[in-house]
Amino acid sequence: MSDLAIIRDGGMLIRDGKIDIVGSSAEIEKNATDCEIIDAGGRVVLPGFVDAHAHPVFAGNRLDDFDRRAKGETYEQIAAAGGGIWSTVEKTRAASEADLLNQATKHANWFLKGGTTTVEAKSGYGLTVEDEVKILRVIRRLNEETSIEFVPTFLGAHAVPREWRQSEYVDLVINEMLPRVAAEKLAEFCDVFCEHGYFDVEQSRRILAAGKKLGLKLRMHADQLTNSGGAKLAGELNATTADHLEQTEEEGIAAMRSAGVQPVLLPGSVYALGSKRYPRAREMIDAGLAVVIATDFNPGSSPTTSMPMILSLACTHMKMSPAEAITTSTINAAYSLNRGDKIGSLEPGKLANFSIFDCEDYRELAYWFGFPQTHSVYVRGERVVDKN
Ligand code: NIG
Ligand code: FE
Repeated sequence: MSDLAIIRDGGMLIRDGKIDIVGSSAEIEKNATDCEIIDAGGRVVLPGFVDAHAHPVFAGNRLDDFDRRAKGETYEQIAAAGGGIWSTVEKTRAASEADLLNQATKHANWFLKGGTTTVEAKSGYGLTVEDEVKILRVIRRLNEETSIEFVPTFLGAHAVPREWRQSEYVDLVINEMLPRVAAEKLAEFCDVFCEHGYFDVEQSRRILAAGKKLGLKLRMHADQLTNSGGAKLAGELNATTADHLEQTEEEGIAAMRSAGVQPVLLPGSVYALGSKRYPRAREMIDAGLAVVIATDFNPGSSPTTSMPMILSLACTHMKMSPAEAITTSTINAAYSLNRGDKIGSLEPGKLANFSIFDCEDYRELAYWFGFPQTHSVYVRGERVVDKN
C-alpha cells in the first residue's frame, strides 16, 4: 500500500475514454499523432478518487444539530431530542424526486471539484418502500445526468421510523423493500446501521442475509458508536466491507481478516462529531487488510465531500502515510465497489478518470488542508472540472 508506482515526467495516451498507453512523456509523444495534448507539466496526476461510503441524496441540512453539538450535546442526545437521522427523513420524505435530484446534483459538483469521480450512494433517508425507491431512482438519474459514476446501495435499515415498531420494521425491510429493490435492480449492495438503538446484531444478520439471497453484495455500518459485534458479523456474512469501525478491537480485526472483509474508515465523521476515537488503521493495515478511506458524506455526521480532507485526517489522526492514504482512496476503494478492473489506477484498459492537482509532490495533497488544490478533473477522457 506504500508503493505508488510513480512515473516522473509521465504521460498517458487516451483513446475512446480509456487509457491506451501509460509511460514516459517521450514514449507517449512518439505514439501521439493527431491528438489533443493536455500539458500537466509540473503537476501531479492521480486516478480520480473513489469515495466508497456516502449518503449524497437527502433534503435540507442539519444546521440545528451542528449548533447543538457546538454547545456540547452528543450525536445520540441530539437524535433523541428530535434532530438526527429522523429530522432528515422527514424533510426527504416531503421532497419531490426533482427537488432531491436538484440538491444531489449540487453535491455531485462538490465531489467532482475535490477530484472524486466515483461515489457510492446509499439510500436511507426515506424509510418507506416508496421513499427508499424514490431515493434510489434519484441515484440512478444522477448516474445518467452527472459526470460521476454513482454506485447504489440500499440502506433501508438506517433507522427505525417513528411510526413502526422495531421488529415490524425489520420485517418490512426484508419482505417488501428488499424484493422491490432487487426486482427493479435499484442497488448493487445492501447496508445496515448495526448499532444500539438502531439495528442490533440479530436484526442486522437477518436483513443482510435476506439481501445476500437476492443477489446483493453487503456493506455494513459497524461498531461506530459502540463495539457491538458489527465487524464480527461482517466476517460471518462475508460482507464486502465493514465501515466506520471506530470501536472495533482485535477480535473484530481478526474476523475481517479471515473473511477478507475490507474495512472502510471514515475519519470525517469522527472529526465532525468532535470525537477523539479514530479507528485503528495501523493495526488493520499491519494485519494485512485492504483498508479503504471515504468521506461518509451526509448532513449529520460528516458534511464533507472532500477526499483531500479525508487524506489529511487519515495521515494526521490515523497515522497512515500519504502513500497509504492515496492507495486506500483509489485502488483499494475501487475493489471495494467491485470495480477494481475498471477504475482506481491509471493503467491501460481502465477508464480515463483522473485529476490534475496544482502541486509537485503527491504528499502535498494530504499535507495542505482546507482548500482545494484541484487544477482539473477528467472523466472518460473528458474535462469536467477546469480551474480556469
Ligand atoms: O454514517 N451512522 C449512520 N449513518 C450516518 C449518519 C447519518 C446521519 O446522521 O444523517 C453515518 O455516520
Ligand atoms: Fe454512513
